[in-house]
Order: sequence, then structure tokens, then C-alpha cells
Amino acid sequence: MENLVNNHFSEVYAGKRVLVTGHTGFKGSWLCEWLLMLNAQVKGFALEPDTVPNHFDILKLENRMESVFSDIRNSEVVKKEINTFQPDFIFHLAAQPLVRRSFRIPAETFDVNVTGTANLLEAVKELGKPCVVMLITTDKVYENREQDILYKESDKLGGFDPYSSSKACMELVIQSFRRSFFNLNDYPSHHKLLAAARAGNVIGGGDFSEDRLMPDIVRALFNNDPLLLRHPKSIRPWQHVLEPLSGYLLWGAKLYGGGREYSGAINFGPLQDDHLTVEQVVNKAIQIFGKGSWQKDESGGQVHEAGILKLDINKAKELLSWTPRWDAQTAIHETLQWYMQPIQNKGDYTRLQIEKYMCA
Ligand SMILES: NC(=O)c1ccc[n+]([C@@H]2O[C@H](COP(=O)([O-])OP(=O)(O)OC[C@H]3O[C@@H](n4cnc5c(N)ncnc54)[C@H](O)[C@@H]3O)[C@@H](O)[C@H]2O)c1
Repeated sequence: MENLVNNHFSEVYAGKRVLVTGHTGFKGSWLCEWLLMLNAQVKGFALEPDTVPNHFDILKLENRMESVFSDIRNSEVVKKEINTFQPDFIFHLAAQPLVRRSFRIPAETFDVNVTGTANLLEAVKELGKPCVVMLITTDKVYENREQDILYKESDKLGGFDPYSSSKACMELVIQSFRRSFFNLNDYPSHHKLLAAARAGNVIGGGDFSEDRLMPDIVRALFNNDPLLLRHPKSIRPWQHVLEPLSGYLLWGAKLYGGGREYSGAINFGPLQDDHLTVEQVVNKAIQIFGKGSWQKDESGGQVHEAGILKLDINKAKELLSWTPRWDAQTAIHETLQWYMQPIQNKGDYTRLQIEKYMCA
């Protein structure tokens, strides 16, 4: 498995033109660093980073790759940048990705996540060369039945909150473009393959977002504050950021060169018995950190969030030979280690963790 991933990556991405949207964000910055380590020619398209500090600046990515700061909703700019760059691969991560923020700005969430995706795919339609397009949706695209089941790729899409619903809509946009313009039967005439990647809840260093569990844990532990938990019993498919990224890279490598049988949607998540409650993640973090405490947030007025969400990852295992390498305990440990590094060492630590993951 180790050699399979490494060999595929180094063979396929070296020297390739790879566009990453959302490169200034948490997952996008890790992906760009990994692609640079694989000697890809990387270009990013996103808004400027909106937190201080942020992983994009920590990695000094602006000096190490081409970077465009613009809005994915501006279709003319998207077309111009894609046409100028002529990518072999596109990884589309730009999004409004926060559930609670989506309750404050629902229309904008749909605009960025749905219209942004349509803009990108329309630009790809005009690209006169082969291209693999990896579109990052989420585990939250499924119509959540609040049952102890593992969602499969064939399950019904839905989404209660605006974020989840916008990502389910994004999947419909992908399906429509695949059927209308990038039909697999017509592949020899367009040479485009689309993939919809549905990853679980991601943790890792370099995330400074609001309202996300791991940044909230880190802020509380480091400031010696008790952590307030809105939904301690909620179950999620937690995974280290390098897990889904390894899946995207492996899948992209298999699609490159016309692997039509790999086109479609795939879940990336933890092993079945590694789906943990929020409370379990926090308790593991406190144990690893050596101190800290949490209490239930009783302030009320919480927006709806799913109680239980688990993913079936058999398709990723069978079709791609992908499997998680770091269990939840390791993922939490590696994440806390990253935040414990002094700021001047964090960039090197990111690269070290990528190397460590590749050898796991
Ligand atoms: N973090 C997770 O747990 C998780 C889980 C599943 C799926 N995802 C998906 O992965 C992707 C990346 O998530 P993340 O956690 O890195 O989020 P993030 O908030 O850290 O990054 C979002 C990126 O999108 C860009 N962006 C936002 N609005 C934009 C706009 N209007 N135009 C251009 N760029 C814009 C931002 O500038 C940033 O680069 C998203 O599509 C998200 O839905 C994330």
C-alpha cells in the first residue's frame, strides 16, 4: 500500500499542472504543500486568507507557487485563469465550508458552493485538453436518517442545514455536467473525468477556523479555559487531513490517462470502529495534552446539527485500494503535536508530517 501510493503520486504528479481552488484554506494549503513535494506545478485560486495566523502564510505558499486571489463566483475570472493555466488536474476545494456560518449566510453559502462549482465546470468545458477534475464535497451530503448506519455512495442525498444542502446541490451540478458535457461514453471527444470526493470531519494542524472542534479544543487547552461543547454525544467520521488528501491524490492518479471506471463519487473516512463522539475526541485530546477540561454548553439557541454520521468506505478500499493509515488516537496526537510547535517551526513540521504519513 505504501509503495502503491508513493509510486503513483511521484510518477503521476511530477511536472503536471495542478490547479487547487481554496489553496489559502486548511485542506487546500496542505494539498498544495504535498503537491509541491511531489514536484507538481501548482497554481491556486481562492480568497485571501481570513485568519491570523493561517497555514498558507506559515508555509509561505505565496512565494512558492502561482497564486490568484479572486472570487469563484466571478465566472469570467475563473474562465480566464483556467484557460491561461491549462491544468492537467483541478482540485476544487474553494467553498463556504462551515455549518453554523451557513445559518447566518445561507444564500451566500449556496452561491459560493453551487454557482462556484458550476462556474468552474463551465470553464472546464471550454478547456481544449484532457483534465481530471476532483470536486470536494463532504460526508454531509447524505439525507441524514439519524440512525446507526454507514452511508454508502448510492444512498440518497439531502442535507438539513444550508451547508450540507449546498454540497448535495453541488453533487447534482457535478452529475448534470457529467451527463451533459463530460459523458463517459463521449470521453474520446472531451477527455474530461469528474470525481466527487466525500470526506469525513477533518482534523489536523493549520486549521484556525471558527466553530470547528479541533481549533476550539486547541484554543481552550492552550489558554487553560474549559471547553464548551454544544453536542458532546454527536458521532462523526473524524480523520486526519492527510487521509482524505491521500485519497484525492490516489484517485486523481488513477483517473489520469483516462481511467473512466474510476469516475463517480467516493467516501473517504475512518474505519468502522473509529467513528468517535465529540466527547471521546475531546477526552483523548485532554489525555494527550496532559490537562484540560470540558463542560456542556447549556446556553441554548443552538442550530440543528446531525447527531450521528458514519461513512462506509468500502468503495475507496475496493476501487482505489485506499485505506486509512492513522487511527483517531494517532490523528489527534499528530494534530496536537503540530499546534505545540513554535510558529517558526510549524511549516517544517507540516512537511515532516506529510513524509511521516507517506511512510506509515
Ligand atoms: N474541514 C473539514 O472537516 C471538511 C470536511 C469535508 C469536506 N470539506 C470540504 O473541503 C473543502 C476545504 O475545506 P477547508 O476545511 O479547507 O475550509 P477553509 O475554510 O479552511 O478553506 C476554504 C477555502 O475556500 C476559499 N473560498 C471561500 N469562499 C470563496 C470564494 N467565494 N471564492 C474563492 N475562494 C473561496 C477560501 O479562500 C479558502 O481558501 C471545502 O470544500 C469543504 O466543504 C471540509
